[in-house]
Amino acid sequence: MTQQAEYDVLVIGSGAAGLSLALELADHARVAVLSKAAIDSGSTQYAQGGISVVLGEDDSLNSHVEDTLNAGAGLCDRDIVHFTVAEGPDRIAWLIKQGVPFTQESNIDGQLTYHLTREGGHSHRRVIHVDDATGKAVVTTLTAKAAAHPNIRLLERHITIDLITGKKLGLETNRCLGAYVLNRDTNEIIAMRARFVVLATGGAGKVYLYTSNPDVATGDGIAMAWRAGCRVGNMEFIQFHPTCLFHPEAKSFLISEAVRGEGGRLLLPDGTPFMHRFDPRAELAPRDIVARAIDHEMKRIGSDYVFLDITHKSEQFIVSHFPNIYHRCLELGYDMANQPIPIVPAAHYTCGGVVTDRHGHTDIAGLYCIGESAFTGLHGANRMASNSLLECLVFGHSASQDILAQLENVSAPPAVPSWDESRVTDSDEEVVVSHNWDELRRFMWDYVGIVRTTKRLERAKRRVDLLQNEIHEYYSNFRISNDLIELRNLVVVADLIIRSALLRKESRGLHYTLDYPERSPEPQNTVLVP
Ligand code: FAD
Ligand code: SIN
Repeated sequence: MTQQAEYDVLVIGSGAAGLSLALELADHARVAVLSKAAIDSGSTQYAQGGISVVLGEDDSLNSHVEDTLNAGAGLCDRDIVHFTVAEGPDRIAWLIKQGVPFTQESNIDGQLTYHLTREGGHSHRRVIHVDDATGKAVVTTLTAKAAAHPNIRLLERHITIDLITGKKLGLETNRCLGAYVLNRDTNEIIAMRARFVVLATGGAGKVYLYTSNPDVATGDGIAMAWRAGCRVGNMEFIQFHPTCLFHPEAKSFLISEAVRGEGGRLLLPDGTPFMHRFDPRAELAPRDIVARAIDHEMKRIGSDYVFLDITHKSEQFIVSHFPNIYHRCLELGYDMANQPIPIVPAAHYTCGGVVTDRHGHTDIAGLYCIGESAFTGLHGANRMASNSLLECLVFGHSASQDILAQLENVSAPPAVPSWDESRVTDSDEEVVVSHNWDELRRFMWDYVGIVRTTKRLERAKRRVDLLQNEIHEYYSNFRISNDLIELRNLVVVADLIIRSALLRKESRGLHYTLDYPERSPEPQNTVLVP
């Protein structure tokens, strides 16, 4: 039997975007926050470097805007960049008020000020952080606040299967009315109705074999919104982080860009620096340039990795600035204070997503999308480091204000039908899920990676079409599980990435193709319409 539940606002995702929005609503609305795994399972928990914000005396909003536009390779929405950057200081003040313990240092007058680190693309020190584990501090602080709030219900291990819309129910008005959600512990499917639904489901890094992202990053929100009829934009711009630790057990452990910000250098295995050959900003060039340079050098010399070296800094500096990274590397056998560490690029960030405006509105009334799953126009063709957490907070805030302004005028959602499982049986072929999962991630890595060609993309397209048919058939016949829901979403997202990449007949930012190596004079977003 399908259970029913009703809230004012259903927030799908418990990262920086979902938690901050929920806290801003909770004094006025009953809010449920879902996470398909533990509350701290999203990418936010793993964010290292910090949050970019203009706080330094020598810095300016204009400079942050210009750096973001430069990194975005001509494709950012200037108004959205301006809006986001200008909101930054207030959002950080809000986080400080919630209790996030940002790292401080004494200035020359002996007063405590917030320490700002530096990352690629930024012309100033403007990344506020909590040592090298900023995301963990944000999640821990906001989760404690949310758990203590009487109007917030935190539901772990609840995976959303699909959105419920007026159109799907054959109603005249196409409003989002809620979602079907699988409780992974009881295997029950709950029809959760809500006056407003917010997708805050994070990115889709798991579509690639090697990624810095946690297991939950399967692009569920993007796939669900697409199936419900929303446009998605700029899905070809997948960011590869230049420096993930190369180690068989490390599962793509990230080495923060702040290590390069504090002077870390990239070296070939023989100790030769190379970044200056690719960009005058060398190690602090935007990520697309650094990742491509590493990929180029690895292929040129036939190596599985290059090195990152920060041994010119004292052990005391390294341990105090990067305690989390230092200790993790040490556990894995590398003493970064005394030896260069091997690194490789890995899929890191989904720049595109569900098309939204500055309030997080999607194409469907009552449905919002915020955080990494949204395409706001902030990042253009390449996100600048530490602009993502900023985006989560800014759009979490603006969407919450928009919802609050409408709360009184939107009535409770109508009854919705129960989930229909009458025609499905238990699967005796689970291998289909695991096989297709592996195959998908492998060909995406090989054919839709850092350097692309039309031929490789077409090859990937043929494979993704086959997989989509197979998975659709499997989904229609067998009882759903967490893995099947994720695979069904991953294959949709892979298809959106490939289709968008095939449409872009130029190289720009994170999309680099040997068939069209030049940047076209007219920058254009790739918007797919379902
Ligand atoms: P997430 O934090 O990813 O949360 C997604 C949530 O959605 C999770 O709770 C998940 O369980 C839930 N969810 C997903 N699908 C479903 C479903 N179907 N049903 C129910 N729940 C679902 N950015 C910066 O600005 N600065 C940094 O220093 C930084 N460092 C990073 C380091 C790493 C290793 C990584 C991976 C990313 C980093 N980023 C950084 C990027 C940034 O962390 C993310 O873009 C950001 O945290 C995304 O937040 P979010 O709230 O959108 O989603
Ligand atoms: C990092 O610390 O290098 C990650 C920063 C980011 O992804 O914005």
